Amino acid sequence: MDKNRWPTEIAPSSAIEKAVAYLRQGEPIVFPTETVYGLGAPVFHEEAVRKIFAIKGRPSDNPLILHVASLEGVKQVAHQIPKMFWDLADRFWPGPLSLIVQRSACVPSIVSAGQPTVAIRMPSHPVALELIRRTGEPLAAPSANLSGRPSPTCSLDVWEDLQGKVPLILEGGHCAVGIESSVLDVSGSFPVLLRPGSVTREELENFLHMKIRSPEEGGAPLSPGMKYRHYAPKAKVRLVLDRKDLQGGYVLSPEPRLGERLLSMQTLFAEFRKADRQGASCIEIDCTPAVRSNEALMNRLAKASCPLM
Ligand code: TXA
Ligand code: MG
Repeated sequence: MDKNRWPTEIAPSSAIEKAVAYLRQGEPIVFPTETVYGLGAPVFHEEAVRKIFAIKGRPSDNPLILHVASLEGVKQVAHQIPKMFWDLADRFWPGPLSLIVQRSACVPSIVSAGQPTVAIRMPSHPVALELIRRTGEPLAAPSANLSGRPSPTCSLDVWEDLQGKVPLILEGGHCAVGIESSVLDVSGSFPVLLRPGSVTREELENFLHMKIRSPEEGGAPLSPGMKYRHYAPKAKVRLVLDRKDLQGGYVLSPEPRLGERLLSMQTLFAEFRKADRQGASCIEIDCTPAVRSNEALMNRLAKASCPLM
């Protein structure tokens, strides 16, 4: 994908109509959600969806999440929807929970990387909801970073990765959640948590009154995206179990001391990018018991610190 195809504009949310015009012409644009910024294309515009993969440098076997603004949108893209899906949507939407169900035949298979299923969520960010409503169909959207880079949590992070590659970035401020949505597969006979997020396993289990399985207990490798090394800064990430072992790198801690930076779901990706801009060679993570018990945070930290994935 040509790096200087567009004079990329960061536009206020009042420019939604302009964004819709680009989407209708088949040009992906970036919009804010409460989790991270998304690079969106109308789901039924196959050429536009194809461009998403080229812009990000995303492997074509990694499926996208569909973003809806209403339950009608779900019926446009999915079928054989179990009751559990509607119950979860009723409780957690709009919000950071993506649900996987059977894909409708009318959804281009590139969206799901050829899988028979599709991931769907209703974001809570008002700009995202308005954009989907005005476009008139669900938006396929991965996180708006170059493949392999940390997800973007503000418009400048998006600019850093996609400048010249997209015409428009809709401004939506800092993302309130800061890490990507929880992904729960409800297409099979039992629910499987493919990606932990701010909607926790415990919340889901308490609501459903049943145990939620993990992919390794679920059989098939259900989420192709999970095999890639995501969320990785250029700096090496070192997890430190005892703060005595900190070596004075770029330190992230949930209880930062002088010269250290705050570690939380909201700050993690932004700090990864800040460390890279400063040319830090090593990011050290103060893995306190609170951090270790946060499944979503530990999932992102494990991926960022593993050099082999
Ligand atoms: O919070 C979020 O989910 C953000 C915002 C923009 O909504 N989006 C996001 O998308 O994080 P992405 O593409 O970066 O991550 C999508 C994840 C990947 O791990 C992918 O493999 C998984 O969801 N996924 C999507 N469709 C799937 C399917 N049909 N079966 C299994 N996994 C699926
Ligand atoms: Mg992503």
